[in-house]
This record gives sequence, structure tokens and C-alpha cells, in this order.
Amino acid sequence: MGITFQLCVLAFLLTFAGYSAGFKPVVLLHGILSGSENMVSLGQEIEREHPDTKVYNCDKFSGWNSLESAWRQIKEIGEYLMTICKLHPEGVHLIGYSQGGLLARAILQSFPDHNVKTFISLSAPQAGQYGTSFLHLIFPDLMAKTAFELFYSRVGQHTSVGNYWNDPYKQELYYEYSTFLPYVNNEIMSANSSNFKEGLLKLKRMILVGGPNDGVITPWQSSHFGYFNGSLDVIPLEERPIFTTDAIGLKTLSDDGRLVLVTVPHVNHFQWHRRKSLIRKYILPHLD
Ligand SMILES: *[C@@H]1O[C@H](CO)[C@@H](O)[C@H](O)[C@H]1NC(C)=O
Ligand SMILES: *[C@@H]1O[C@H](CO)[C@@H](O)[C@H](O)[C@H]1NC(C)=O
Repeated sequence: MGITFQLCVLAFLLTFAGYSAGFKPVVLLHGILSGSENMVSLGQEIEREHPDTKVYNCDKFSGWNSLESAWRQIKEIGEYLMTICKLHPEGVHLIGYSQGGLLARAILQSFPDHNVKTFISLSAPQAGQYGTSFLHLIFPDLMAKTAFELFYSRVGQHTSVGNYWNDPYKQELYYEYSTFLPYVNNEIMSANSSNFKEGLLKLKRMILVGGPNDGVITPWQSSHFGYFNGSLDVIPLEERPIFTTDAIGLKTLSDDGRLVLVTVPHVNHFQWHRRKSLIRKYILPHLD
């Protein structure tokens, strides 16, 4: 009798513990010219507020290696993510910061068998990048206006930045040379286009975070798939063909209420993954 009762209590406690530990694992992907050390504080904040969350902080392609071509990084980091997905059939969440947010999105598209539930993109150049402030982080002497000469070449396409450099004045060269962004955005159709859409449509939620004081992502609306047109006016996501033609599933996600665009002012590029108030307000509520 006594033992049965104790077993019942134990079963109850285990069930209860099971519920309270019910947060899905979270995978973090760092930005350019940095590594997992940059994402530690975000991971710690998640563990503090959601105890027992298993955090996987990807340390692949740190530092200068983060300049390696996008497809190479996507393949290796994608295999790492798929290993984690298999360990957690209940699903995982994925957070990518800056370049890591763009790579993470392309990984979801390239590995449509993933089981990522919520994807959070923190100020990532989802529609590309065209601006000196970003360029100068890596290439101090290069000017945005002439960078196309380097990036839109065979050699330039060996760098991640070249892969998503989107010069609004040189769109013909962009389509001719870029081996990454026009493909993963289904602007150029390929054998993989249907996978690229399927991989995003699988998500339960896609949260795109960015803001006007970012200072690095140019235009900042690229974090929401907005982008410059040929006269440097920024066209918002809803008016761009990638959305209106539902090229990669963004419109479907939006119609279903699964796409959330978050605009936060007064946050510079190096604070998105660090500022606690932001993490608590815009990230944690989406991690269940
Ligand atoms: C695209 O498709 C080709 C041929 O089917 C395949 O070899 C390649 O790995 C695919 N790439 C991606 C990123 O899915
Ligand atoms: C860019 O968009 C603006 C605003 O919609 C428009 O006035 C302008 O003509 C467009 N420029 C080009 C080159 O399409």
C-alpha cells in the first residue's frame, strides 16, 4: 500500500517534471566574423527563463571561416542540424543571427526533412545586402558602388558576402553570377525549387526581427525580405514578387498567421542577440 502510494507520487512528479521540462531544444547560429561565444548570453538567458531547455550553440565556421561560401556552410551546418533534429523527434527551434539568420533559413529550405517548429531570424540580410557599413566590417577599403566587380565574379562567389551581395544597380550581373541568393529565393528556378519552398512551409512559425537603427544590415528591411528597387527605394515584402508569387512560401505562411514581422527601434546590429529586454519580449514567448 505504502509502496504503491509512493510509486504514484513518483509517477506524478515525473509527469509534472516532464511538463515543466517541456521546452523544445533550441539551436543557435552565430553571425559573420564571430562564433558560438557570441551567442552564449542568449543561450544562458533562454536556460534561465525556460529551465531545462537544451541549447545547441553551433560553433562551425567561426571567425574568418564564416566567409566561406554559403552553400558549403549550409551543407555542413545543415547536417549538424539534422543530427539534432533526429535526436529530438518532438521538434526543435532555430535562431540565427545576422548572416547566421540567412544561412539558417537556407538550411531549412535545403533540408526539408527537418523538424524545426519555430525559426527566429535576428536582423539577417534575407533579401540581400547593399551597403558600405556592412562591407567595411570585412573589407575596409571596398566601396559598395564598386564591390560588384569583386563579388560578381567566380572568385567573389567563393565568399558568403559575395553570395548575398545584391546590388540594385547591377541586377543583370547579380542573376548571372550569384550562385546562392537568387536560387534560394526561387528567383531562378532549379531542380531544388520545390524543396526550397517545402522546407519553409513546414514551419509552425517564422519570426523575422529587425529595425531601423540596426546600422549594418542595409537596407534594414532586408531583415523582413524588403529590398531596394533600381532607384534605391525600399519595397516592402508584401509588394515584392518573392511574396506576391509565393515563391518560397512566405505568402502562405503569412495568410496562415505563421509569419511574424517584428520591428524594434533603437537596437543596433550588435545588440539583437544580447539585449535581455528584447530576448524576453520578442524571442522567449515563441519558444515552447
Ligand atoms: C540541388 O539539386 C542537385 C541535383 O538534384 C543536388 O545535387 C544538390 O545537392 C541540391 N542542392 C541543394 C542545396 O538542395
Ligand atoms: C522604385 O519604387 C518607387 C516607389 O514605389 C517608384 O517611385 C520608383 O519609380 C521605383 N524605381 C524603379 C527604378 O523602379
